[in-house]
Amino acid sequence: MRHLIDPTDLTTNEVEELMNRAIDIIGHPARYAEVCHGKKLATLFYEPSTRTRLSFTSAMMELGGQVLGFSDARSSSVSKGETVADTVRVVSCFADIIAMRHYKEGAPRVASEFSRIPIINAGDGGHSHPTQTLTDLLTIRRELGHFDHLTIGLCGDLKYGRTVHSLIKAMNRYDGTRFVLISPPELRLPDYMKHELYVDGKPDFVEVNTLEEAMPMLDVLYMTRVQQERFADLSEYERLKDSFILDEERMRLGKESMIVLHPLPRVNEITTGVDKDRRAAYFRQVENGKFVRMALIYTLLQWKEEERKGETPDVGRYDMICSNDRCITATEPVERKFYKDKDGVLRCHYCDHAV
Ligand code: NCD
Repeated sequence: MRHLIDPTDLTTNEVEELMNRAIDIIGHPARYAEVCHGKKLATLFYEPSTRTRLSFTSAMMELGGQVLGFSDARSSSVSKGETVADTVRVVSCFADIIAMRHYKEGAPRVASEFSRIPIINAGDGGHSHPTQTLTDLLTIRRELGHFDHLTIGLCGDLKYGRTVHSLIKAMNRYDGTRFVLISPPELRLPDYMKHELYVDGKPDFVEVNTLEEAMPMLDVLYMTRVQQERFADLSEYERLKDSFILDEERMRLGKESMIVLHPLPRVNEITTGVDKDRRAAYFRQVENGKFVRMALIYTLLQWKEEERKGETPDVGRYDMICSNDRCITATEPVERKFYKDKDGVLRCHYCDHAV
């Protein structure tokens, strides 16, 4: 059975299939109004979310399906100490598909190993957020028309920003993608992500210190908020939160054809004055999120019926533990699995951290 845990769980052809489906839904919503009649989506949100959860909910409603679930782990059995594995085994009896957000990295991967229905990762800790990435891709596709030879500036919290990690993984598969990384030194991309951008041992990205330097190069500027909730030391957050602010003056340095994306919520990294610039695509992006989630729910349910298979991950069991304390394996009794990346580094199957 197919799940969506990491953006690379989908081949580029399957991404294309989803994009086309989303565009068909946009053009012919009435055709899809009943396709999920009688089906239920369970939204299991262990971490606060408004837009992602509402986006999933409205997507399922527009497909004619129903939605159940929780938006606060304290109101579920989790507060009684239930494991993710048990929760999904139970929910598999009540729903047809699950969207899960969790503060532990790798939790949706664990869920997929115990579930009888498809699992969609709606964000796991600072790790990954594949449906935001599909949203970003649909926006790029609708605004720019293609994915090849794009220079993408990633700005803000590249350390904890899971949307950034997933977007890099997805865009890195297209021809000629170039990344420009714009972040304070403390919030640079983690090593397990950076290694993805090395080609023959050399970095295939540029790191710059100011937005001004980056602006003229970019086709896409991806702004992110500094992830306050992942800081152990709040004074560190206060010091870093306003590191990069996109305003009208900086927008003047960008190409006419550039687009600005942001997964939202925005704190103050984009001034409201930028909103009226037609290159500001972040509110159009929100709408695309609903359409792409409609396409995803519809497609995963269809693949389940067709029994379409994906690739089985090449993992091994080693007598080791993952060193990432935010990894789900630190708190749940699951089998420890590791894989070797393209450079031969052993990484946790659940959170991708090197061991
Ligand atoms: C992002 C998330 O939750 O990771 N938002 C979202 O899904 N729309 C980004 C964020 O919280 O800053």
